[in-house]
Amino acid sequence: MAAPFRTRLTELLGIEYPILGGGLMWLSDARYVAALARAGCMGFITPRSFASDDAFAEALDLCADLSAGRPFGVNLTLSSRPEANRSVQRWVEIALAHGVRHFETAGYRPDGLIGTLHAAGATVIHKASSIRHGLAAERAGADAIALIGMEEGGHPGMNELPAMLMGALAVGRFRVPLVLGGGIGHGRQIAAALVQGLDGVLMGSRFLVCEEISVHPDYKAHLLTCDEHATVRVLQSLGNTWRVLSNDTARQIEALERSGALDHAAFGDLIKGTTVRDGCYATGDWNRGMLSLGPAIAFAHRIEPLSVIVSGLIHEAQHAFQTFDSRMPKR
Ligand SMILES: Cc1cc2nc3c(=O)[nH]c(=O)nc-3n(C[C@H](O)[C@H](O)[C@H](O)COP(=O)(O)O)c2cc1C
Repeated sequence: MAAPFRTRLTELLGIEYPILGGGLMWLSDARYVAALARAGCMGFITPRSFASDDAFAEALDLCADLSAGRPFGVNLTLSSRPEANRSVQRWVEIALAHGVRHFETAGYRPDGLIGTLHAAGATVIHKASSIRHGLAAERAGADAIALIGMEEGGHPGMNELPAMLMGALAVGRFRVPLVLGGGIGHGRQIAAALVQGLDGVLMGSRFLVCEEISVHPDYKAHLLTCDEHATVRVLQSLGNTWRVLSNDTARQIEALERSGALDHAAFGDLIKGTTVRDGCYATGDWNRGMLSLGPAIAFAHRIEPLSVIVSGLIHEAQHAFQTFDSRMPKR
C-alpha cells in the first residue's frame, strides 16, 4: 500500500508530509522552525519567546532565509487573562508584514483573531484540547483543527482523554482538515492517525532532542534518559493543567497543591517562564523550572538533525502501512 502522505492538510499548507511541529515557548526559534520547513513539515515561531518586537521580526527574516522558500508559521497562544494578550495584535501585524500567512492559534477564544487573519488572506490552524472547543473554532472559521490529547507536553487543558480516543470520536464531525496531537513520537502512530481518517499529526516533545533545538546539552542528555513515566500533570487545582518533566520543581508544585494553594501567586517563581529559560535551557539544570514535556519523549534515543528524525518517522509510518497491507486477506 502506498503511504497516504498527501492529505487535505498537506494540500492546505503546501507541505510534503502531514506533520506539524507545534509552537514551543523559548524553543521554536528561526533555526528550529526552518529545519521543520526544510524537512517537509510546518513549524511555528512563538513571538512570546522574544524580548522585543525587533527580535521577533529578525527571527522571521532569518527563518525565511533558512527555510529555502518553504512555508512556515507563527504560533499565537491566547491567555485567559486579557492583559496577557495585549501584544497579540502587534505580533500579527509584524508577522503579516514579513509575509507569514500560516498561524497556529492556541488557548482562549480565537474567534476575533481568526477573522483578522482571514481578512489578511492567512490560514489558521486552531489547536483545541476538546472536540467541543474544536467545533467552536471551526464555526468561527478555522481552516484546520488540531485536537490535543491529555498526553500533550505543555498545556493540554482540563481534558482527560487520550489523543487516540479523541481522534476516533472526532473523525466525521469536522468539515475542515483534522490533525491529532499529544503523545505522538513514532511513525506507527502517524500511520494509525491517517488510517483513522485524520489529515495529519502535531508533535512537540519528540523533537526536543533534535540538533536544531537550542538548549543546554546537559538537558538534552537528560531527555534521552526519560521513559514514558518521566512526565507528570500538575496545576489541575487551578484549572491550568500543565504536563511537565517530573523534577524537583514539579514535586514542589505537587506539595503546594496538596497543601491547598489556591491561586497562581501561591506558586511564586516556581511557575515563572523565565526560570525555565535561565534555569534549565541555559544552564542544563533540569531540576529547575516547569519544563513542558510529554511521554512521547520516550521515543527519543539520539540527538540528531531534525531531518533525520522526520525521515525516521516517515520510514516507520511506511513500514506500518506495509505490515497492515500484508495482513489484509488477498482476493
Ligand atoms: C517545551 C514545550 C513548549 C511548548 N510551548 C507551547 C506554546 O508556547 N504554545 C503552544 O500553543 N503550545 C506549546 N507547546 C505544545 C506544543 O505546541 C504541542 O502542542 C505539543 O508538544 C504536542 O504534544 P507532544 O508534546 O505530546 O508531542 C509546548 C510544548 C513543549 C514540549
